[in-house]
Amino acid sequence: MSRNVVMGVTGGIACYKAADVVSRLKKEGIGVDVIMTKNACHFVDPLTFRTLSKNPVVTDTFATPEAWKVGHVALAEKADVMLIAPATANVIGKVAAGIADDMLTTTIMASRAKIVFAPAMNVNMYENPIVQENIRRLKALGYYFIEPGSGMLACGYEGKGRMAEPPEIVSCVLKLLSEDTETTERKAENSDLAGKRFLVTAGPTTEKIDPVRYISNRSSGKMGFAVAEAAFARGADVTLVTGPVKLSCSPGIRRIDVSTTREMLKACEKAFPEVDAVVKAAAPADFYVVNSCDHKIKKKSDTITLELAQNPDILKTLGSRKEGQILVGFAAETRNLETYAREKIAAKNLDMIVANDVSAPGAGFDVDTNIFTLITADGRKTEYEKMTKSEAADIILDRIMELMEQKTEK
Ligand code: PMT
Repeated sequence: MSRNVVMGVTGGIACYKAADVVSRLKKEGIGVDVIMTKNACHFVDPLTFRTLSKNPVVTDTFATPEAWKVGHVALAEKADVMLIAPATANVIGKVAAGIADDMLTTTIMASRAKIVFAPAMNVNMYENPIVQENIRRLKALGYYFIEPGSGMLACGYEGKGRMAEPPEIVSCVLKLLSEDTETTERKAENSDLAGKRFLVTAGPTTEKIDPVRYISNRSSGKMGFAVAEAAFARGADVTLVTGPVKLSCSPGIRRIDVSTTREMLKACEKAFPEVDAVVKAAAPADFYVVNSCDHKIKKKSDTITLELAQNPDILKTLGSRKEGQILVGFAAETRNLETYAREKIAAKNLDMIVANDVSAPGAGFDVDTNIFTLITADGRKTEYEKMTKSEAADIILDRIMELMEQKTEK
């Protein structure tokens, strides 16, 4: 089966990495057509992409008009996946605003393919709330994003904004390409969660002390990501709200990255009315630093005092607004596991809690396995031996299915 990627290249120094992406996609046997914006042509000559893709390159100036006997609609139709790499703040903003004023943006607008952006820009631009809002908006509409990396940027700044490396971009595109065929097969086999919408949270949150220090905890995100992946594999529509972790997820999962507990609350509140079930595997920081500093705190005295204030309890907030959703929390305890877990069910209006003793070897934070007890709101309790977090995720989802069925029977 032939697979085609239409790749949009926009103006940034990361254009040179885009050439490597084309070359790698070709090696995977994928057909590549490149559209370059006018600005991209200042960085790399279209001839580079023409040579690597073995296809004519479309430019805004239509420098090679004879090469394309078809317009943007035909190109849009040809794409199984559209990849925009590098994606500037400008192109992200234009697409988010519905602007289609050149070959690339009209093709994006006309395409029904999966569209994935690999942003690359200066750290201040990337962190600009307008850019972040545009990214959030596009993610909510089903566009995919490959997180930029952190490090020294070409503009001389240090921070987040460096385009993801070509192997990561290619592996994401391959996942998206294989998803259509694979998930159709997989869903035919096991699609018991098809039509169900899940909100899953994962990872820690971080609370700033100063620009170089923060408060956080040992959560790696593995448990939450396992639940999100398992639900997705079983056909569910999954929104994953995650704190800062080093994990990647299937491109079909709607991933929302946050840093603080208050940001996690905001993302969850937004998604909550639209979902059937919530699994809160995240370990949000319970406190934030009231007297955080905008500048690095100097070691002038032997001690400093941080004033901490309580963060909102996300699960409790959702519990107070429940309208038929199944709400599942986790309890991370080191003693009195069952007592504290039962208290949390009542305090947060949960349907079920996954209680894990995070001090037990092979359970809890940053390991691939977990040992847990499921307790439902009706008081039933089942204890489970050590197993992988993926296996645990499937058991949790099975029980959620039962709870959903019980609810519809009532
Ligand atoms: O990420 P891993 O390394 O794989 O580790 C997995 C895990 C140990 C983080 C996970 O299995 C787990 O136990 N997650 C819950 C951690 C936690 O915050 O537990 P808690 O008992 O403090 O909170 C109870 C519940 O309230 C949790 O569902 C939590 O997401 C939620 N909560 C807590 C605080 C807060 N401000 N808002 C919340 O919603």
